[in-house]
Amino acid sequence: MKKLKLIGPFKQLITMTGLPLKGALSDAQLVIIDDAGMLIEDGKIKTIGLFKNMAVDADNATTEITSLQGNHVCLPGFIDAHTHICFGGSRAKDYAMRNAGKTYLEIAKAGGGIWDTVTQTRKASTEELIKKTIKRSKQHLKNGVTTLEVKSGYGLSVAEELKMLRAIKTTNAQTPLDLVPTCLAAHMKPKDFLGTNTAYLEEISSTLFPILKEENLSHRIDAFIEESAFSKEEIRPYFKKAKEMGFDITVHADQFSTDGSAVAVEFGALSADHLEASTDKEIELLSKSNVIATALPGASIGLGCAFTPARKLLDSGCSVAIASDHNPGSAPMGDLLTQAAILQTFEKLSNAEVLAGITYRAAAALNLTDRGQLKEGLLADFVLFHTNDYNEILYNQGSFKPCMVFKNGELVFDKHKTH
Ligand code: NIG
Ligand code: FE
Repeated sequence: MKKLKLIGPFKQLITMTGLPLKGALSDAQLVIIDDAGMLIEDGKIKTIGLFKNMAVDADNATTEITSLQGNHVCLPGFIDAHTHICFGGSRAKDYAMRNAGKTYLEIAKAGGGIWDTVTQTRKASTEELIKKTIKRSKQHLKNGVTTLEVKSGYGLSVAEELKMLRAIKTTNAQTPLDLVPTCLAAHMKPKDFLGTNTAYLEEISSTLFPILKEENLSHRIDAFIEESAFSKEEIRPYFKKAKEMGFDITVHADQFSTDGSAVAVEFGALSADHLEASTDKEIELLSKSNVIATALPGASIGLGCAFTPARKLLDSGCSVAIASDHNPGSAPMGDLLTQAAILQTFEKLSNAEVLAGITYRAAAALNLTDRGQLKEGLLADFVLFHTNDYNEILYNQGSFKPCMVFKNGELVFDKHKTH
C-alpha cells in the first residue's frame, strides 16, 4: 500500500499562514502559492510546493498521485466554532411570530424559544438525535466545514444533557468531520427545576461536570449570560468550578445586553460569541484580552437584528472568528460561507479577514493548533473550489459551493459524485 499521497495542481493554494492572530488583515497579506501541490502522509501535510516538481520527484512505488483537471483554489477546511445542531423539532412558528413583530425575548418569556426546543429534544430518542445531527453535520461538510463545534443545551437536566452529549459523541464517530462538543447546560434554567438559578448551576457543576470528564464527553463549558438566562453573578461560581476542573470556557455574550464579554475576559475564556450589543467599552476590554470575538451573522440574519461589530473589533485589535450558530431558534439557515459573505459586505471586511475568521482564528477559538492553516505537520483538511481566483469564493456570497472536501487527507465529499 502506498504511504504518501500527492495532490494538485491547485491554481492557487491559500495557506492562511504567517498572519497575526489578532487585528485587521488586508488581502495583500495572504500567502498564495500558484500551481501548488500537497504531499500528504498519515492524514497530515508533509510538504507543500510546486506540483510539477513534486510530481517529478515523487517515487511511484510509495506515492499515489492525484492530478486534478481544470482550475482549483485550495483553502484550509472551514471551522465552524459555534453551532447547536443537535436538537429535536422545529421553531418555524417562532420565526413567523418574530416576523409578525414579537421579539426573541418576548417569545421566550411566553414559553416558546429555547424551552420549546428543550421539550422537543427531550422527546426525541438518542437514535433520532444522532440521525438528525449526522444529517446536519453532512450538510456542513458539503459546504466545506471539516471541524464543527456542537453544543448541548437543549436537555437542561443531568440526564438529558448527557443524552445530547452522547449523541454528539456518536455522531462524531460516524461522520468524517471532527465534532467539538461543548456543554451548554447553562443555556437557561429549565422550567421544571424548582430551585433558583444558582441551585440549578450548582447541581450541574457538581453532578454533570465529573461525568463529562469520566466519559470524555466535553472539555468545554459555555453559558448564556443574558436577562432571560443567567446573570454574571450567578455564572461566576459556575465558571470558577469549571476552570478548577480544567474545562475551557466560552460564553454567549452581549447578544441583547452587555455583561457577558466582561465575564469572558475575567475568566480567560477562549471566546466570547455573539457581541451584537457590544459597545466601545466592551470592544476595548476584549481587545486587551486574548479572548476570540466570535461573530454569528446567522443569528443576526435569523433575528433581523444588528450584526456583530466585526469591523470595529478588528480595528481595535481583536481576533474575530465567524461561526454559523446553526440552531432551530435564532439561526436556522446553517450555511457558514453564505453568512460570512453577508457579514463581509455589511461590516466591510477584507477577504483575508473573513477567511481567517473561518479558518485559523476559528481554530484558536476551539483551542486547536493542528488545523486552520495549510502547512507542514498540520492536518490535511482542505477544501477545493472550481475556479482560478480565490476572490470568486466570497464574491458569490455562498452560492458557489466547494467541489471537493478532504478530511485527514481523504476525499470525503466530491460534488461530481453526488446528485
Ligand atoms: O446562540 N442565544 C442563545 N442561544 C442560541 C439560540 C438558541 C435558540 O434560540 O434555540 C444562540 O442564538
Ligand atoms: Fe449560540
